[in-house]
Amino acid sequence: MALTGLFLISFLVVHAAINAMIFFNDGGKTFNEWGHFMGTNLIVRTMEIGLFAGLILHIVDGLVLFFQNRAARPVKYAYEKPSASSQWYSRSMAILGTLILLFLVIHLKDFWLKTRITELTGNKHMYVNGVWMENLYSEMRLVFSELWVVILYVVGCFSLFWHLLHGFRSAFQSMGWSQGQYKEIIGLSGDAFSVIISALFASMPIAMYLNLVH
Ligand code: HEM
Repeated sequence: MALTGLFLISFLVVHAAINAMIFFNDGGKTFNEWGHFMGTNLIVRTMEIGLFAGLILHIVDGLVLFFQNRAARPVKYAYEKPSASSQWYSRSMAILGTLILLFLVIHLKDFWLKTRITELTGNKHMYVNGVWMENLYSEMRLVFSELWVVILYVVGCFSLFWHLLHGFRSAFQSMGWSQGQYKEIIGLSGDAFSVIISALFASMPIAMYLNLVH
């Protein structure tokens, strides 16, 4: 779980960094250029297979762990006060993960399916520095022109926030990297990372809906 989790975290960093280029306010040119590079570079495309494999492994591992935990205590304690020893979100990783998965299904249908499988329609292309490429930026504008979609994405980012808040600390602990003097600093970095990455992702649909990017 920790290994695949950290791998997926590294994907999120790259994904958020490239998406954040919409904030350059250059009509999506820089963002489209990077999107084009990521979509056509052979090494990146090969890594895409690893990404989906990592995602599936993470989900399967998570499910196994969930059912093992349940089987370990078929009879509940007579007196239970889980809040005394753990946070609600660390006990709800499976539910939060399922919410993220539901978000991902919709998200991949919104973008990935259109670029990789069905292809964007003719008017969703543009020249950037003489190269004809998909205009993912205009697709984003279209997707985020509907309020319910924006709300759905923000809920997805909120689920991601809680999932990461426990996942980051937990992954470093499982790897044995969170001991002694480093424990506190790694925990705090994880908290900061969870806030920043989720807020950055959520700001994209919101900014587009409110016409704050051009
Ligand atoms: C909320 C703001 C987000 C926006 C605007 C956004 C935008 C995009 C776009 C445009 C693509 C298509 C790239 C392409 O086909 O060339 C994409 C792919 C993808 N996104 Fe997002 N994304 C967001 C959040 C997320 C989050 C939170 C996750 C994970 C929890 C995620 C996971 C993915 C995955 C797995 C892919 C497919 C990767 C691939 O193309 O290989 N995205 N996203």
